[in-house]
Amino acid sequence: DKTIESAMIFDQQTNDQFPKQFIWPKDHLSQTSTENLNEQVIDLQGFLSHDEHATLLAANLVKESCLSHGFFQVVNHGVDPALLALAQEHGRGFFKLPLTEKLKCKQKEGSVAGFSCAHAQRFREKLPWKESLTFEYHENGTDEVITEFFNALGSQYNETGLIFQKFCWSMNKLALDIMELLEISLGVEGHKHNYYRQLYEEAVSIVRCNHYPQCNNPELTYGVGPHCDPNTLTILYQDQVGGLEVFVDNKWKSVQPNPDALVINIGDTFKALSNGKYKSCLHRVSVNRYEPRLSLVFFLCPKGDKELKAPQDLVDKDGRKEYPDFTWEEFLQFTQKNHRADENTLEGFT
Ligand code: SIN
Ligand code: FE2
Repeated sequence: DKTIESAMIFDQQTNDQFPKQFIWPKDHLSQTSTENLNEQVIDLQGFLSHDEHATLLAANLVKESCLSHGFFQVVNHGVDPALLALAQEHGRGFFKLPLTEKLKCKQKEGSVAGFSCAHAQRFREKLPWKESLTFEYHENGTDEVITEFFNALGSQYNETGLIFQKFCWSMNKLALDIMELLEISLGVEGHKHNYYRQLYEEAVSIVRCNHYPQCNNPELTYGVGPHCDPNTLTILYQDQVGGLEVFVDNKWKSVQPNPDALVINIGDTFKALSNGKYKSCLHRVSVNRYEPRLSLVFFLCPKGDKELKAPQDLVDKDGRKEYPDFTWEEFLQFTQKNHRADENTLEGFT
């Protein structure tokens, strides 16, 4: 079993040969620039308390970031820091469990939910140096979905389930608020800032805890290779280790972790929903020789069969429609067929 094999490699790293399935080809291993990314850190307090002036200021910063690279951070985002710290602690606790325990919620074929190691079930080579725990958040589902998921590990995971349930509520709220801010930033008229929000009613989003173990040969591999997120919007809470890098001005620049901030990535779905105006962000994760890293990620995704299209107002102003109407299900199929690690992941989506 590939998952078990990969997990054992993480457990028993020696100074002998680095396992070859984790070694990435030389031409994929481009250096990280010494320049840090100078992204916007946007204060959401005024926007979240309906201050009109502060909202316009925030929307302008969002617009600037999204036109140039599709990446920014937010502070005063309304998610309780104590909740984030708890989710982080419980996430970490899971990965510290013995492998036999983690395997109790191993990802099943055809499902996104569960524990997986190095995506080894999907890939044979260029394996990412990470293990993850993934589950779904159904906006209008019963509240028990997440607690039940964690209960599969035993009743002592009740609390973990409850914490992640709250985490999902907060992240989903923030994601929808940011969708509204994106709409304001694009100057979409005629929908009372509700056009994007209503596309995400009954959303089925994905939550993933990523653990990147310490690695003896970080220069040979990645925690995650270069990619754009296919979903709409990604909200990430990371620890202070660092490793996330964004491709800007033809360079891979490191994101400096900010303990008060959440990281926001524009995904390909939103690029399409903005009629191609906003960039989806190309990023990757490097691993660390000395320390493991943990990130908690909320991927906002619409309900699979909801019809998605850019607001007509934007299409009219742009004078052309860049992408066809689509559903998330169709779009996922497209991205899986056309997996490409560059800035044109949407090329051919017509
Ligand atoms: C990802 O992009 O898939 C993960 C990002 C991170 O862990 O920082
Ligand atoms: Fe990503």
